[in-house]
Amino acid sequence: MKLEIGSGNKPQKGYIHFDIRAGIGADVVGDARELPFKEGECDEVYSRFFLEHLPRKDALLALKEMFRVLKRDGKLEIIVPNIAYFCKLFSEESGQKKEWALNKIYGFEHYKEDHHFFGYDEEILSKALKESGFIEIKRADEEEQYLHLTAKKPLK
Ligand SMILES: C[S@@+](CC[C@H](N)C(=O)[O-])C[C@H]1O[C@@H](n2cnc3c(N)ncnc32)[C@H](O)[C@@H]1O
Repeated sequence: MKLEIGSGNKPQKGYIHFDIRAGIGADVVGDARELPFKEGECDEVYSRFFLEHLPRKDALLALKEMFRVLKRDGKLEIIVPNIAYFCKLFSEESGQKKEWALNKIYGFEHYKEDHHFFGYDEEILSKALKESGFIEIKRADEEEQYLHLTAKKPLK
């Protein structure tokens, strides 16, 4: 089973879609801090632009839940805005680019859950992944704006 957490309005093909909001096409509705799946049930977990929507400690809970539901040697793929990039953009730009940076730092506020409670650069996200038990934490691409990391649940 391949699971996407926080799939929202842009669900990725090939995954079971999980989101806290009902009525937007999620296969399973619930809170990522307490996933309704069994330990080791998932081959892969994917999450894009979700983790920053949780306060720091809750994000760790969600990462630990992703770790729990993954099978051993299962892969996590996670994408979040790079707060370092957007803070720089905010301080150096003006007008629309500055507004865009603000939205990427704090969230667009299109709906109730559309706030960013925390921000990540590569060091901070890698640390959170390590604390949640993940290994083999790697950058999937060198895109500056977004952190796209992969990680694994250890075999043992
Ligand atoms: C910015 S959207 C990202 C949507 C999509 N993944 C994308 O890449 O565009 C963040 C999603 O996370 C969901 N979300 C926020 N808090 C959540 C929680 N505690 N548990 C599950 N989903 C949550 C929101 O409902 C929203 O659909």
